[in-house]
Parts: sequence; C-alpha cells; structure tokens
Amino acid sequence: MNNFVFYSPTEFVFGKETEMQVGILAGKYGARKVMIVYGGGSVVRSGLLDRVKQSLREAGIQYCEMGGVQPNPVDTKVYEGIELCRREQADLLLPVGGGSVIDTAKAIAAGVPYEGDFWDFFIGKAKVVKALKVAVVLTIPAAGSEGSGNSVITKVDTLQKLSLRVPELLRPVFSIMNPELTYTLPPFQMACGIADMMVHIMERYFTNTQDVEISDRLCEGTLTAIIKEAYRIQRNPEDYGARANIMWCGTIAHNGTCGVGCEEDWASHFLEHEVSAIYNVTHGAGLSVIVPAWMIFMAGHNPKKIAQFANRVFGIPESEDLEEMALAGVSRLKHFFRFIGLPVNFKELGIEEPDIDRLADSLHRNKGEFVGNYVKLTKQDSKEIYRLAL
Ligand code: NZQ
Ligand code: ZN
Repeated sequence: MNNFVFYSPTEFVFGKETEMQVGILAGKYGARKVMIVYGGGSVVRSGLLDRVKQSLREAGIQYCEMGGVQPNPVDTKVYEGIELCRREQADLLLPVGGGSVIDTAKAIAAGVPYEGDFWDFFIGKAKVVKALKVAVVLTIPAAGSEGSGNSVITKVDTLQKLSLRVPELLRPVFSIMNPELTYTLPPFQMACGIADMMVHIMERYFTNTQDVEISDRLCEGTLTAIIKEAYRIQRNPEDYGARANIMWCGTIAHNGTCGVGCEEDWASHFLEHEVSAIYNVTHGAGLSVIVPAWMIFMAGHNPKKIAQFANRVFGIPESEDLEEMALAGVSRLKHFFRFIGLPVNFKELGIEEPDIDRLADSLHRNKGEFVGNYVKLTKQDSKEIYRLAL
C-alpha cells in the first residue's frame, strides 16, 4: 500500500425529506446568500426547487438562482455563473441536481475569487488557492461529485472535456441525499449512473499496487452491492431500500475511500471523456461501451486484476488461464450492462463510424504520451481500444 492523505470533510445528510434541512445547514456553514444552480428543469417539475427555497426562506437565508445547466456541462455557463455570483455577492454555491450541475457550481466557486480565466485551472495554468463553499442537494446517484473534489467541464470552442481535482477546496461542505428524489429518474439515466459509479470503483481497483486488500475488498463489496440493488430497482423502481443503497454506493465509489493507497488508473474515463466531448453522449453510456473494450485489451496485456474481478464480482471459477477468466468476466459485465438497458459498443451508442484517429489524437493531446497506469497506453493502444468497442 502506498502512502496517502485522505481528506474528506463533507457532511452527508441522508434520508427521506432531508432537503428540508438545507436552510439550517447553509446557516450552520456561515452562508448569508446562496446561489442555487440547477439544470434543465427536472427540479422545477418535481417541486424540489420550491421546497429548497422554502427551507432557505425559513432559515432567513437569501438566494439567487441560475438554471439551464446542460448534461456534459460547458464553460459558457460557468462564465455566466461567475458573473451572476459576483453581482449578487453570494457566498455559497448550492447546486440542486446531478454531476453536471454540481461540477458547474464547483467551477464557479473556484472562478469567483480568481482574477484570471477559470479555464486556467483546468489546463493546469493556475492552481486553485481560494474557492467559495459548495453544498449539494443531490438528485441522481452517478458522478459522485457530491463527495468528490472534482469538476469536469467541456470547453465549447475546442470540445475539450477536462477535469479539475482540488479535494481540499472543492469537496462540498455538506451534501443532502434523499433517495426518494431519484424515483423520477428515467430508467436510462439511472442505468448510466450505475455504470458510472461501477467504473469509478474499477478505475481504482485495477491497480498494480501490492498489499491493497482493504481497498480490493471495499471495491468488490461495493460493486456486488450495486449489481444486486440494480436488479431490485429493475423489478420495482420505487423500492426505497434499493434506491438508498445505490445512492450511497455512488458516493462511496468516488469519494476516495475505495482507492486510498493505490495507484489509480482512469484511462477508461479519459477515453470516454473524448467520446462525450465530441459526440455529446451520456457519460455512463460512453463508459459502458469503453470499459469492456479496455478490459478486453487488458486481458491480453495484464489480466491479473481483471481475472480477480471476474472471480470475486461475477463468480467466474478460478483457473490457470487468467486471460480466459478475465474474458469471461467481461462477458458477464456486458450482459449486466445490456440487461439494465445500456449500450456495449459504439453502434449501440448511436455512433456508426466513430472517428478513431480524432478521438485518439485529442486524448493524447489532452493527456500526454501515455494514458492510465494499469498498463500505460500509447496512442496505438488507445486506437486499439476504441476499435475493440466498435
Ligand atoms: O437537467 P435536468 O432537467 O435536471 O435533468 C437531468 C439531466 O438531464 C436528469 N435528472 C437528474 N436528476 C433527475 C433527473 N431527471 C429526473 N429526475 C431526477 N431526480 O438527468 C440528466 C443527467 O444529469 P447529469 O447531472 O448530467 O448527470 P450525472 O450526475 O451523471 O453527471 C454527469 C456529468 O458528471 C461528469 C460527467 O462527465 C458528466 O459531465 N463527471 C463528474 C465527476 C466528478 N465531478 O467527480 C466524475 C465523473 O466521472 C464524471 O466524469
Ligand atoms: Zn465517471
């Protein structure tokens, strides 16, 4: 196990009707005026936004608001938010929604006290040394942004989808998680969330770091729980227990717990970010296409952990032939993704002829000569993985 620092100060407030505590919690964290950020309107239609505002009013907290954040959030909305936040002098960002809304709020939080262009942080030109506080009301278990210090934004002009990681400053101060809010999610969106959280775990699990038994077991246990609860939700979408378990799995998957002490991989995410940047597909659906292809590639190059995954998560019997075990595990994973309604190749994703050269060129321009750690991918390797996803 490698040395590590794990700093995760978020207060999670979990359960039914917890959104009604948002005003009190915002006051507890010193907010005088919050800026509510939301997406395309699901929170308006469900009445959640009204309940959040009511709770703020009851606690004597002022607010302003910005809606219209789109999935695969873009820089232009961040600029708009920075301007509004400065004008209104809000002191806490309150995203009400999913990863796209939360990530936009985090980028605004970092951008407001900074004199330059917030995009500098995403391209490594500047470091975030100060940020406004962010607090979350989560409506979709998926990206894990409610517990992570990350923000992922796409620059419209260049179609670069890049992530920023600042756990010390961008982890939310509190995150409200009411599993009942997820009942209104379209099944496809729910399935995408399930794939995303699974891959957040797998990016950490597929490591060459030795003596990480605790991380391995946390990862395997959480993956098994996700698969089991996903089947329950398929049978009964209003199964509160299953929704609750999945929602907490989404946080555990990405708040860092599962990966401490490991060299993490993240190649699948970077390969996918190019796909969602260029073709604007849903992140989780992009992952259900890319990850099986990445695993097939790994079965031929470094099968050890893929075979262990196959055995411990999907019950593939142990054998001397690790590659065969690994490939059997990939088949089971694809079967699971298909069962919950996800694509497992580019065609099913609606991209008949992906421009593989463009995807790989952009990936290595953004991320350098080598991508990932489990096997360091060259541009040729990346192209092969994209081809395996055809
Ligand atoms: O916009 P509205 O109308 O609210 O609808 C949203 C949106 O269309 C809808 N939705 C959310 N909650 C709902 C609901 N519809 C009905 N009922 C509800 N309760 O779902 C759609 C997707 O929302 P989005 O926020 O885009 O989903 P998600 O949480 O999956 O976030 C995806 C984004 O997060 C990034 C992804 O790349 C993508 O841009 N990621 C962020 C990470 C992070 N910050 O740590 C890590 C991830 O790996 C990921 O890359
Ligand atoms: Zn993800």
